[in-house]
Amino acid sequence: MLAGLKVITEMNMQIRMRRLRSSDAMRRLVRGVSLSADNFVYPLFVCPGKGIKKPIESMADCFHFSPDMAAQEAKGIYEMGIPAVLLFGLPKKKDSKASEAFDDNAAVQQAIRKIKKAVPGLLVITDVCLCAYTNSGHCGIIKNKKIDNDASCEILARAAVSHAKAGADMVAPSDMMDGRIAAIRNALDEKGFVDTAIMSYSAKYASAFYGPFRGAADSAPAFGDRKTYQMDVASSAKQAMREIELDIAEGADIVMVKPAMAYLDIISEASRRFDVPIAAYQVSGEFMMINAAAKIGVFDRKAAIMESLVAIKRAGADIIISYFAKEAVKWIAC
Ligand code: PBG
Repeated sequence: MLAGLKVITEMNMQIRMRRLRSSDAMRRLVRGVSLSADNFVYPLFVCPGKGIKKPIESMADCFHFSPDMAAQEAKGIYEMGIPAVLLFGLPKKKDSKASEAFDDNAAVQQAIRKIKKAVPGLLVITDVCLCAYTNSGHCGIIKNKKIDNDASCEILARAAVSHAKAGADMVAPSDMMDGRIAAIRNALDEKGFVDTAIMSYSAKYASAFYGPFRGAADSAPAFGDRKTYQMDVASSAKQAMREIELDIAEGADIVMVKPAMAYLDIISEASRRFDVPIAAYQVSGEFMMINAAAKIGVFDRKAAIMESLVAIKRAGADIIISYFAKEAVKWIAC
């Protein structure tokens, strides 16, 4: 027997996992997962008008901003080190054709122009969907009481082009129609917007966790639900992988899983399988759930927020869209 081996045996060596947890410095050294301001996207809600910063009732510390105020807010966000905002637009008037979704002078298009002018370095990503613009509250156009997939793709492509024309760096389709990524990529390329990137809400589930957002965007469906286009919450990871695979084939630059915390398995599998950046959306219900629980003393708010975010990162998300982004970035910095 080798001398060294004998010594170890005689020492009755014990593996002690706690050695690497013994101090803050040791824990930092070995942890391997960390959050950075670079990982975050902050969502902003844009409404028509001027000088408006109105609290959103269903979502704590979130506001409806008119385009001018959105530009001011965006400046602060950029100065905090957050690289991107995700804009959601509200129309003056809803109709059956979602007309304001592709109106070059609607609120979100105005906000894009104002933000890019005020803060050129900040990435402007726009949500591309019809639910806030249709009087049905659905993400597509209704024909014969059904959602017409292909007609919806045409409108979505027009909306994406109008965002690109206003200066958006990236468009993010969240409607879940089939073929919309190809329709949008083709339309953007045809109009010369070859550099406008697409972040697809690829694996988006028909989740209960969007409740507070629908209050904010006034986009609850007037009839039925979104289960014929958003994914079944119990569907296997295979279906999500197929959605993601198709979107990449159609030209998505970044793919997204949404919501985040109840779908960490999907984030994890997607990040192992695909060589594109993976985004995860910590949605309004996740945000309000943590806020509400902290308020009644269930846990320490900051600790719970940071734990939820680092879990999303550890699962494999490169990009985290979160209403906590501003607070998290402040905490990361100190
Ligand atoms: C629009 C859209 C929704 C969200 C993002 N884009 C709502 C929905 O699909 O009903 C949800 C975001 C959130 O809950 O924070 N289709």
